[in-house]
Amino acid sequence: MTHSESGKKIEIEIRGLSVTYRGREADVHAVKNCSFSVARGDVVGLVGESGSGKSSALMAIPQLLPSGTLVDGQIICGGLDLAKLSENAMNEWRWRKIALVPQGAMNSFTPHLTVERHITEVLEHHLKTPKNEGKKRAVSLMEAVGLDARILSRYPHELSGGQKQRAALALALACDPDFLLADEPTTALDVITQKEVLETIANLVRDRGMGLILVTHDLPLAAGACDTLIVMKDGAIVESGPSEDIIASPGNAYTRTLIDAIKEMEVPS
Ligand SMILES: Nc1ncnc2c1ncn2[C@@H]1O[C@H](COP(=O)(O)OP(=O)(O)OP(=O)(O)O)[C@@H](O)[C@H]1O
Ligand SMILES: [Mg+2]
Repeated sequence: MTHSESGKKIEIEIRGLSVTYRGREADVHAVKNCSFSVARGDVVGLVGESGSGKSSALMAIPQLLPSGTLVDGQIICGGLDLAKLSENAMNEWRWRKIALVPQGAMNSFTPHLTVERHITEVLEHHLKTPKNEGKKRAVSLMEAVGLDARILSRYPHELSGGQKQRAALALALACDPDFLLADEPTTALDVITQKEVLETIANLVRDRGMGLILVTHDLPLAAGACDTLIVMKDGAIVESGPSEDIIASPGNAYTRTLIDAIKEMEVPS
């Protein structure tokens, strides 16, 4: 379902987004006048080399950039400009409407809490879900992300890399958000596990009719999972469109470089 009751598409529309980090010596213009949108049901890949501004653009959406960072432009959702919301108002959106799988799954977890406790705490805090209901929801989330329910009693350091990423995904899905923002959710994993975890994410997002922005430097991997690709370079969008079109005939020399760079890495020496 990609439409609200009023018949309007639920989407996040980013208009003219710029992100500038204030430096002691010089400012860093990490994102420059970028515009794109993601609707519920869209699976969008935001790709580009390291430092191209992907995380900065993504983290601007739930206002999770370091304080003091200058953010310009509009992030329109539900008739509101999310960039202008107060911290309290934004908190109402995080987890419930827009959830994040951060870069490096460990950033999702507190070392001394079990996986179950992480999930039940998020549910208690954001949805006031009673503990016994939270436990049931935690079990169904494990199933959804392809983990054994016994994982719930483990601490974060007791999980493999792939299990950690799946658990981070379960946590992000806890409050049944409309949009999922995933920053390099599979980068630390081997190639096969990367593909499996990414397929799990894309399938879940499609089944639930959520919108996904997947950030990755791996353009072919993103193309395999996403319908649309947005290619960033030096803070600007250089190309965007259907994944198959971009892979088949990249309109930009930089995009071609990204495709070739990954292919070369995958050729065994
Ligand atoms: N907190 C910060 N303070 C100052 N500069 C920053 C900060 N975070 C990022 N930058 C700079 O902003 C630019 C974009 O960084 P960003 O993290 O958005 O890139 P990225 O595309 O996500 O890279 P990667 O693939 O390595 O994660 C880079 O030049 C980076 O050095
Ligand atoms: Mg990044």
